[in-house]
Amino acid sequence: MSTASPPLTLDIKPIQLPKMGCGTWAWGNRLLWNYDPTMDDDLQQVFNLCVNNGVTLFDTGDSYGTGKLNGRSESLLGKFAITYTGENHDALCLATKLAPYPWRLTRQSIIDAANASRDRMGRLDLAQLHWSTANYAPWQEPALLNGLCDLYEQGIIRGVGLSNFGPKRLRKMYPIFRDRQIPILTLQIQYSLLSTYPVTDLGLKETCDELGIKIIAYSPLCLGVLTGKYSDDEGTKPSYPKGLRNLLFRQLIPNAEPVVNCLQAIAKERDKTPAQIALNWCMVKGTIPIPGAKNLKQAQDNLGATGWLLDNGEVDALDKAAASVSKPMVQNVFQSR
Ligand SMILES: NC(=O)c1ccc[n+]([C@@H]2O[C@H](COP(=O)([O-])OP(=O)(O)OC[C@H]3O[C@@H](n4cnc5c(N)ncnc54)[C@H](OP(=O)(O)O)[C@@H]3O)[C@@H](O)[C@H]2O)c1
Repeated sequence: MSTASPPLTLDIKPIQLPKMGCGTWAWGNRLLWNYDPTMDDDLQQVFNLCVNNGVTLFDTGDSYGTGKLNGRSESLLGKFAITYTGENHDALCLATKLAPYPWRLTRQSIIDAANASRDRMGRLDLAQLHWSTANYAPWQEPALLNGLCDLYEQGIIRGVGLSNFGPKRLRKMYPIFRDRQIPILTLQIQYSLLSTYPVTDLGLKETCDELGIKIIAYSPLCLGVLTGKYSDDEGTKPSYPKGLRNLLFRQLIPNAEPVVNCLQAIAKERDKTPAQIALNWCMVKGTIPIPGAKNLKQAQDNLGATGWLLDNGEVDALDKAAASVSKPMVQNVFQSR
């Protein structure tokens, strides 16, 4: 005889996940992304264009924003969402990532963090744990995950998500959610043609499919490298970006050549841009890419990645190019196995 308790029935409007979302790490970040508050009108237009075209998932984090601008990404999203009156408003999903800071140790600390984010955003649909503490403080995590479940049960959020978890850690923590009958809606990982590690080496997609979790692909353009616009060839293209990406790109871009060349060849053949091909590849692989966009032109370009699919031959060519890269993008230090 089964002893399972009846399924949890909560009156929560389910989140509808779109095929593609929009990342907002740059909105408030000077150090890496050269943000300036004069960009805000443009960013509002980015928001409006995205929602109007069905890109209704916006990803932010409570650690986003440098110095005095901490929380800026969340508060900009809140401001844009409240003034938006166009199409698809009902499908809007504001997702934040709550950081497992060392001083966040209890269930209540995550509830407090979520409420602070909700104050900045005016709403909070999806709350994700920003990274797994498995690599340095594995004992910290269960209370925080239970805090996420509490938020869902209390109707403060409409969905629970994770970020930077590998399949082994995911399986270990999964019973917390299963026992409380709370679905893990999404798992966010660094995934692009230059960062296939969690999927190809760890086999994360199979685990997520089995557990009914949708993968969100972050940094799907590898911080801009896969647009093909950056190079050391100063004559024809912009050189490396300023700020922290400069050093990284100097090492990454020469290695990324086979992938960028392949993207450019397919883009030319299809009359698309390399960014559109790179994002479409993420979608073909069954993930939801969330490219960051800093202006209307980029957002418009990224929208051209939706509504069609690469064919098998193109995907094979891209996979082969990706596999040939000897030094791909470095993994997030918090990515667990
Ligand atoms: N869970 C996590 O730990 C984690 C970690 C990182 C990111 N994320 C999330 O993932 C989102 C996306 O990743 P990301 O912002 O790191 O990197 P990304 O999406 O790979 O690259 C975004 C950058 O590429 C450039 N770009 C975007 N679209 C373009 C286009 N069509 N043409 C030319 N350039 C274009 C822009 O920068 P430039 O114009 O300056 O080149 C833009 O800021 C973030 O915003 C954040 O929400 C999550």
